[in-house]
Amino acid sequence: MTDYTTFEHDVLVIGAGGAGLRAAIEASAAGVSVGLICKSLLGKAHTVMAEGGMAAAMGNVDDRDNWRVHFSDTMRGGQYVNNWRMAELHAKEAPERVRELEAWGAVFDRTKDGKILQRNFGGHRYPRLAHVGDRTGLELIRTLQDHGIHQGIDVHMEVTVISLLKDGDRVVGVLAYEREHGRFRVFKAKAVVLATGGVGRAFKITSNSWEGTGDGHALAYHAGAELIDMEFIQFHPTGMVWPPSVRGILVTEGVRGEGGILTNSEGKRFMFDDIPPLYKDQTASDPEEGWRYTQGDKTANRPPELLTRDHVARCINREVKAGRGSPHGGVYLDIAWIKEKLPNAAEHIKKKLPSMYHQFMQLANLDITTTPMEVGPTTHYIMGGIRVDADTQASTLPGLYACGECASGINGANRLGGNSLSDLIVFGKRAGEYAAQFAQQNGHGSIDNGQIERETKRALEPFDREGGDNPFVVQHDLQDMMQAKVGIVRVEEEMQEALAGLRGLKDRAEKCSVTGNIDYNPGWHTALDLRNLLTVSEAITRSAIERKESRGGQFREDYPNKEPEFAKFNIAVKEVNGEMQISHVPLPEMPAELKAVIEEMG
Ligand code: FUM
Repeated sequence: MTDYTTFEHDVLVIGAGGAGLRAAIEASAAGVSVGLICKSLLGKAHTVMAEGGMAAAMGNVDDRDNWRVHFSDTMRGGQYVNNWRMAELHAKEAPERVRELEAWGAVFDRTKDGKILQRNFGGHRYPRLAHVGDRTGLELIRTLQDHGIHQGIDVHMEVTVISLLKDGDRVVGVLAYEREHGRFRVFKAKAVVLATGGVGRAFKITSNSWEGTGDGHALAYHAGAELIDMEFIQFHPTGMVWPPSVRGILVTEGVRGEGGILTNSEGKRFMFDDIPPLYKDQTASDPEEGWRYTQGDKTANRPPELLTRDHVARCINREVKAGRGSPHGGVYLDIAWIKEKLPNAAEHIKKKLPSMYHQFMQLANLDITTTPMEVGPTTHYIMGGIRVDADTQASTLPGLYACGECASGINGANRLGGNSLSDLIVFGKRAGEYAAQFAQQNGHGSIDNGQIERETKRALEPFDREGGDNPFVVQHDLQDMMQAKVGIVRVEEEMQEALAGLRGLKDRAEKCSVTGNIDYNPGWHTALDLRNLLTVSEAITRSAIERKESRGGQFREDYPNKEPEFAKFNIAVKEVNGEMQISHVPLPEMPAELKAVIEEMG
């Protein structure tokens, strides 16, 4: 019998980024006991990488903004395969959630008359991103953490979940190990909320830290839940490209929101060359107008640098491939040019983009107030994830809820910048509320000791094997392959090669071995993460092959157009008898009043 310690909570939240913290706070406020598991230390979450702000139609800077415009922008950005009910709830509830954060002590930049300041971001018609400089995600985490501490939530830090425990179909707890000493823990819970974030570590170039290995996606999938939209990966247009050790680190869209422009090696603002018809009427045809827009001029149109992320990333890719890139394989992002417009430009940049200023100074020895940055696309976010009910965030398995990046629906084929922070607080709250309700209506299920034995045995196998690959080498080869064959531009042949490659990598992962013992052993941790990375990589690749069109975060060179047929369903994956099965989930008909909103917004 394996040794383990048992913990018991009414609601167990896995993941302590913005969504997990908000869910834990809400569940706790409902009067149930709450456990919160973090893979890392509390406060270290990918949420902090949403730097530029949280989108909420508060209308503080432009009073024409309201939930209807936000809803229609989100649907348009997602290219109409979003879950419209989630987009509606998000647009309606985001302002209230932001004001709640403010009441809990969050600091925001202010308008002259003292309201929360909002900035422009890609795909948002009006200045909509409530922000504090370029540290908004960090402030959100800090606020929720401070608030959560007073709610009596039990926090389990540096604990990694390796399996969801089931009683029949119902999820009744989890099996986990503690990072420091490698010991196993069993958590019994009446309801479990997954808030584990994204999958960026399946790719070579990413803004995600080491924790982003698709854990929640894979845990839910192996427990029998459905994942949808896994083909839609967001390549944020601007990550650092130099020096190599920091490649992929995010350069906030806030730089473009503050007037930053993109140029190629010929000094040309190439974004003017390719404005999609969908956005033509709202995109500036001359640079002067675009600049005025970023300064809040209500009569001006937005600069093309603020088109949606999928589009900007592809334009950058095109410039680099055509040989018009910067020396290290990116393009130039120039905020220093605003000195032509503002007498105090350097001070202004340092005030509005303090983290970017320090990041480039310290990591690249470059002063962004005088010199353009080199930037290129970086894997930032996955629109796909666990299929959930829009109102309750319940997954397709009883007792299992999901919110934040590991859940799917609100963003469709592409997420607008800033919509993730507001998604976390809107749907984190809902997940916590409904998970608590489930816990109040149901007792604990029974834990199957056989499952615990099987899973702990599987987890320890890398210690029993000899020879085989080092898990870090397998992870490295996987990242190289996904970047090359299932990246920004996709074609059938390469993706079929990736599928074959994944079979080989799975075989290697199942044979890989580790040395040492279970006490703080990063090689063993990586061996366990590999199962999740391989699962999500297969889901991404199979879904991308199935979608024979280009839409949002999926661009296929062999099917470059949007096909109306593919706007009628989401692509789902589910584990059936150990195999990944693909199906189509029809999109429900949008109610007439929401259709009218979209038509009204043009
Ligand atoms: O560019 C950024 O600040 C990222 C924001 C986001 O992903 O929402």
